[in-house]
Amino acid sequence: MNKPSRLKTIRDFTLRGKRVFLRLDFNTPLSPPDENGVRHVEDDTRIREALPTIKYACEQGAKVIIGSHVGRPNGKRNETYSILPAAMKLAELLDTEVTVADDCVGEGIEFKASQVQNGHIMILENLRFYKEEEANDPQFAKYLSRICDIYITDAFGTAHRKHASTYGLPSIIPDRGCGFLIEKEIKYFDSMLHTPGQPFYLILGGAKVSDKIQTIHALMKRVQGMIIGGAMAYAFMKAKGEKIPHEWKQPAPEDVEAAKEILKEADRRKMPFLLPVDTNEGFDIGPKTIALYQDFLSKSKMVFWNGPLGWFEKPDYATGTNEVAKFLANLSGCVKIVGGGDTVSAINQCLVDGVSIASKFDHLSTGGGAALEYLENEGLPGIEVLKTGYRPQSPDLEWNEKNSKTDAEWEAENAARDGGSRDGRGGRS
Ligand code: 3PG
Ligand code: MG
Repeated sequence: MNKPSRLKTIRDFTLRGKRVFLRLDFNTPLSPPDENGVRHVEDDTRIREALPTIKYACEQGAKVIIGSHVGRPNGKRNETYSILPAAMKLAELLDTEVTVADDCVGEGIEFKASQVQNGHIMILENLRFYKEEEANDPQFAKYLSRICDIYITDAFGTAHRKHASTYGLPSIIPDRGCGFLIEKEIKYFDSMLHTPGQPFYLILGGAKVSDKIQTIHALMKRVQGMIIGGAMAYAFMKAKGEKIPHEWKQPAPEDVEAAKEILKEADRRKMPFLLPVDTNEGFDIGPKTIALYQDFLSKSKMVFWNGPLGWFEKPDYATGTNEVAKFLANLSGCVKIVGGGDTVSAINQCLVDGVSIASKFDHLSTGGGAALEYLENEGLPGIEVLKTGYRPQSPDLEWNEKNSKTDAEWEAENAARDGGSRDGRGGRS
């Protein structure tokens, strides 16, 4: 087994002339297509947060090769999930030219990567256009490794995924480390784990019920109280025997079961576990709940918030999220950390006298699911792998070797891929 080593950062490497693979999380909310069929980045937080690392790599004279996923295209090429909107936003923010590759692996891409000038950037097409990415296929990781002398990840939001670009690739690249964003995220998350202000309360909302419900159990031992909002609340309300009006989204039976267990555990721990006492047409928490939640939060010394409390994209149902956000913004003596794309968007969009309240929060994390898993497991696989490398002996870190294709099978399958030319020629670049 490899001996765990210190987490290296981008500062630890000489980057000049090297192909530096930057795994970033450019999975951002996108607009519907405009009249030219082009989608646009609607919240550029994740891209802006990665800029210090990108700029540093360019200044140091690296050949910067950015890889990211966008959405969940299920292993198929699908222009709806193209990297292009993110690439356009990056070029705009940096005010520089960014080469956009039309693929992410293959000989053409290898050639293009070698041609990137020192200090310049090439961005790869969506890594998830290959099912091998999410399957952590070793052959796919090997293909990626051919365009990579140094591996740097700043994809905090995806560091809970054991995918080829977040886990398999760094396992086989000896020179690997994290960027400035992950460094900053670790600082805040470690403070929540090791030196939390108390009472420490967790606010959980959003629609991704099943994703989160399982982690709540584990988080109970870390906090002194929980506040629930968003669609997730219905699973708990139903678990308590309340009727959920039929016109609302009904919670899945397994979520209701999980909710029952969580409520029992909260009871056993005598831990305050607050649920909505009224709603705004089932799409937002109501005024009594807002007052109840604000009063409860007034005592907190540390808060972590993941998931909006209502359908905040619709102004009619943004009141709960906005009122709780404004209350927290003005609360002194409390460390306030927010995580998750939607929640961060909601905070960014929440204005007082025309100014966003975002700066009143201590940290806006780029991780949603990743943030919760960090708190649950005291770390993330995509960060741990930078220290330990690949450990085939550990079943937990099992590598999908047996499912991997041979070179010949890989070539044949990719030759047959519809529409996608793996050599990177014949498309935009
Ligand atoms: C996210 O937005 O949560 C990250 O980019 C990870 O995406 P995923 O949940 O589709 O793995
Ligand atoms: Mg997610």
